[in-house]
Amino acid sequence: MIRIRRLFKIIRIVYRYRLDSLIDKDKLPLIARLLLSPAVLYGKPSDNRGERLRKALESLGPIFVKFGQLLSTRPDLVPADICAELAQLQDNVPPFKSAKFRQIVEQALDSSVDELFLSFETEPLASASVAQVHAAVLKDGSDVVVKAVRPNIEKVIGKDIALLYTLARLLAKYSQDGRRLRPVEVIADYEQVIYDELNLQAEGANASLLRHNFEGSQLLYVPKIDWAYSNEKVLVMERIYGTPVTNIDDLKAAGVNFKTLAERGVEIFFTQVFEHNFFHADMHPGNIFVNASNPEKPSYIAIDCAIMGSLSKDDQYYMARNLIAIFKRDYRQVAELHIRSGWVPESTPVNEFTSAIRAVCEPIFQRPLNEISLGHMLISLFTTARRFDMEVQPSLVLLQKTLLNIEGLGRQLYPQLDLWTTAQPFLDKWLKDRYSPKSLFKQFKRYAPDWMEQLPEIPPLIYQALQSMQSNEKSVKAVVPAAQAKSKLSFTRKWFPWVGGAAIGSGLCLAFPQSANTLSQLPETGIILVAIGLFILLLR
Ligand SMILES: Nc1ncnc2c1ncn2[C@@H]1O[C@H](COP(=O)(O)OP(=O)(O)O)[C@@H](O)[C@H]1O
Ligand SMILES: [Mg+2]
Repeated sequence: MIRIRRLFKIIRIVYRYRLDSLIDKDKLPLIARLLLSPAVLYGKPSDNRGERLRKALESLGPIFVKFGQLLSTRPDLVPADICAELAQLQDNVPPFKSAKFRQIVEQALDSSVDELFLSFETEPLASASVAQVHAAVLKDGSDVVVKAVRPNIEKVIGKDIALLYTLARLLAKYSQDGRRLRPVEVIADYEQVIYDELNLQAEGANASLLRHNFEGSQLLYVPKIDWAYSNEKVLVMERIYGTPVTNIDDLKAAGVNFKTLAERGVEIFFTQVFEHNFFHADMHPGNIFVNASNPEKPSYIAIDCAIMGSLSKDDQYYMARNLIAIFKRDYRQVAELHIRSGWVPESTPVNEFTSAIRAVCEPIFQRPLNEISLGHMLISLFTTARRFDMEVQPSLVLLQKTLLNIEGLGRQLYPQLDLWTTAQPFLDKWLKDRYSPKSLFKQFKRYAPDWMEQLPEIPPLIYQALQSMQSNEKSVKAVVPAAQAKSKLSFTRKWFPWVGGAAIGSGLCLAFPQSANTLSQLPETGIILVAIGLFILLLR
């Protein structure tokens, strides 16, 4: 019943904001066309379709607003004019009562607020669609913030997501333009994001790991989680007093070096993605603060670690090489890397794919470096690759979104920011370090226990292989003159140096890809091959 009421509300909003004008009505079934026909009574739609969509989402409530915010970070799918409008959506939801907040905290932590805290601020610090945050002081006098999820939000989300799925399926079925937006996929992505935000224990664990990764760093600080008072429903953490990164005037007044600040933002991003392989993927300005106590060397503070990303080892490696190839405008290599990484099918025609990539990237390179957006470049690249059947992995989408956020933020702080010059040495160093003897030794140490486990299985395997070679040889022996036939084993042994040598050679190529550009990606396999080669030579 409630759902039908909600559906009617949606239909009314569709009329009011003439959202019917966004779909291709001719292809709709008669019943749907009839249902939408009263929309004309609401007058001619304004030209600004983005604004109409934004207002409609605002009228539909916080879950839709949050969805609009997510859409605004997908310029790969949503047209630029709509993206710009949706980016203005604010999820300033009226707070729920502090008495209710206390009740949630008391239930989750099984003690009264008075027992838990020395003081507790009734007025919330912030209230959004999913969670609300209050400041408090612990019994030991430390300042903390307490975050709890809105009451009954799970039910509301469940219903709204179900509705969004219905709308997405309709859009996919009846609108060609709509289909291109991959609506069902986008809703699935949103569903994942919003449910992740409900589990505060997971958010706390992410914050703890991010904090650990930047322990002792001068770049980023993450507040400490108070695990004694935290669980799935409530999160208590150290209170931070940084300047919100959007308060440019305050940062200016503090004499902050904006160039350093912007460059440090880029450095943090690349460190998270390539060194830690664990990146904060909700880097919108509301979650970033600046510690300006040393204005020449300002540092960042990050909160709200509900959405984090990490890449597979292969994706991480190919992404780094791809970025370097883009920097060098080596489009052929970009195409080859897309194929080798398996992002596009192996059968992709390299020449055609190279030209398509060149066609989108080259015009972008005609602009001054500080106007080129790496994030947009990546989006154009993925959009092109989609035409060649690339299935963009969710982790890569998260990366692309975060890169856009970081870049946007960096340019807001320091418009001359040259992301390329800041990022390139970092990537070069990362790739070089990856194949340094130290790092190879580290990998060797990491995998050695597994190899030791497998080592006893190798001699029987080799023996079996030799036996099968021997029996193959037997079958051809009939045509070999008896005088020339040698002992099978010595015949096979004659090949040992070659087989062993080949294994060592190709192993080295794999382990040190820069020395042999053709084979590149599998240093671990390379090391294993070298070990097997040595073993075969010893057998001889
Ligand atoms: N550790 C903290 N110290 C100080 N303020 C905080 C802290 N954590 C959150 N806040 C305030 O609460 C707001 C919302 O917190 P956040 O974790 O981002 O929640 P949401 O998931 O609703 O975005 C932040 O923008 C910030 O103003
Ligand atoms: Mg936030």
